Amino acid sequence: MPRKLQECLDAAEETLRALRSGEVDAIVASGPEGDRVYTLKGADEAYRIMVQNMAEGALTVAPDGLILFSNEKLASILAIPHERVIGSSFHDFIVPEDTDIFSALLTDESGARAKCEVRLKAPGGALVPVSLSVNRLVLDGIDCFCVIVADLTDQKRNEEVLHALSNRLLQLHDEERRRIARGLHDGALQRLAALEFKLDLVGQRSSKLPPAARRILTECLDLVGECCEDLSHLVYLIQPPLLAEQGLGSALRSYVNGFNRRLGPQVSLSFPSRLSRLPVDLETTLFRIAQEALSNIESHSGSATAEILFRRKDGEILLEVADHGCGISTEMLKQLNSGRALSGIGIAGIRERVRLLGGLMKICSNSDGTTVRVKLPIKPPTRHDGQAA
Ligand SMILES: Nc1ncnc2c1ncn2[C@@H]1O[C@H](COP(=O)(O)OP(=O)(O)O)[C@@H](O)[C@H]1O
Ligand SMILES: [Mg+2]
Repeated sequence: MPRKLQECLDAAEETLRALRSGEVDAIVASGPEGDRVYTLKGADEAYRIMVQNMAEGALTVAPDGLILFSNEKLASILAIPHERVIGSSFHDFIVPEDTDIFSALLTDESGARAKCEVRLKAPGGALVPVSLSVNRLVLDGIDCFCVIVADLTDQKRNEEVLHALSNRLLQLHDEERRRIARGLHDGALQRLAALEFKLDLVGQRSSKLPPAARRILTECLDLVGECCEDLSHLVYLIQPPLLAEQGLGSALRSYVNGFNRRLGPQVSLSFPSRLSRLPVDLETTLFRIAQEALSNIESHSGSATAEILFRRKDGEILLEVADHGCGISTEMLKQLNSGRALSGIGIAGIRERVRLLGGLMKICSNSDGTTVRVKLPIKPPTRHDGQAA
């Protein structure tokens, strides 16, 4: 490298080093309109304006939680005057049940950027859900923390509306299934049964009919029989009658038997014989999850077999539905497990049903197959128990 270029590079490197270490107070830039001076004070001013106008609260706190600096936004989140914020302890603004969560971030030795959600107390007893993002920093040789406070009120409200809507949607879906099943059972199925009965009566006198008419009558009887069977199966798939009367175990055994009579994957069911009746909303949810998972296995996995396994453990019921099929792609699996999948509503429906009962769902999948795992708490029966599912 030519000496001149090397010297230029050395000078540039030295300037950068001085800028980074704070040895430089100002930079002079020469241009056609003369020299311009950019001072670091100017940079401080820009940051100050930025922090004051942020949509989030920004504060620095001492290790004991004392607020050393705060922007106006935090005061507006707390709905108190700005003067009351600085010099107070941030712990005093957090609801007592959540203060440990914040303290844990301040005492975390890893020094990493940490996040948590807590509720702040506003005047009049209002609670403000916020997310805290905490960074450890050293100011003038003193250890302190920089905290960004984001108001989650709107986000939580939107989430509640969304959950209420999806809950309603699931209820409507179940009600609609019941309505269609009842309509088919009491309407078309009854009429077909009557038709079969009447055709049968004609069949008993068929010796008086010409041979061609007798053949057609036999075909009609076969067709009506098949229609009755198809419709009964459909009604059963939509709304298994045994669930309300005989409980989850019987309904699932009968459902699996029906499933195995078809050409799809052969399913084995492991259901503890000692498992007593569960609250009706729990039984309906578990049935629907198993049903949805089996439907996915049939539609997507290509697996020849599947297993449904139930276990009861420490006040919880565990359900696993596994197959040995092609598995789910890594990207889709990530989306399904985080609730961000944009296509399909089967898994989203399972997630929502599980969430409503305070449980957990996880899907594990690789090229050897897929397992849907659900864990639900067994709550004491409610006054709705015993009603039809
Ligand atoms: N057992 C499975 N085996 C393979 N892929 C599956 C399985 N279950 C779900 N998937 C994948 O996950 C996607 C989402 O499933 P789901 O939410 O039920 O929607 P849908 O069945 O309507 O596509 C499916 O489209 C499929 O790609
Ligand atoms: Mg599906």
